[in-house]
Amino acid sequence: MPDLKIAIASDHAGYKLKSYIYGFLKDKEYSIEDVGTCSEAKVDYPAFALKIVEKLITGNINSGILICGTGVGMSIAANRFPGVRAVNCSDTYTAKMSRLHNNANVLCLGERLIGEGLAGEIVEIFITTNFEGGRHSMRVDLIDEMAIKYWKEFIGRK
Ligand code: RB5
Repeated sequence: MPDLKIAIASDHAGYKLKSYIYGFLKDKEYSIEDVGTCSEAKVDYPAFALKIVEKLITGNINSGILICGTGVGMSIAANRFPGVRAVNCSDTYTAKMSRLHNNANVLCLGERLIGEGLAGEIVEIFITTNFEGGRHSMRVDLIDEMAIKYWKEFIGRK
């Protein structure tokens, strides 16, 4: 990805793996910002998902990494927002395909599921694989079009 700007966040259950991945990418001289959490003290994962989503939506970054115990909560939270395509990955094939076909822009990892070595490989594949575009672009656009329609109806009923 050209001009790659990455930000990373975790909750307490992803803090150790976040520290590892941050160092791993810094060592490779990627532009990466750590937006917390800063310790293993208990925090709420949606708040940290939002920090990455806001950076993505405002164009401050083009790739986000979110880590919690399983990656599940982070991916559910991030995927509530338009323009966010978060993938919860525990294998390299999914990481690659999520970029090639789905133009995923947030990678979610579970510290309680995978070790540092595999996590590093997944991250590297995710940030170095480009979206194929073509027939996949229309499908990816369709996701936001459909979601926006129903969000409008939902808001209208409030
Ligand atoms: C925290 O215990 C855990 O629930 C959280 O990190 C995450 O795995 C939620 O999906």
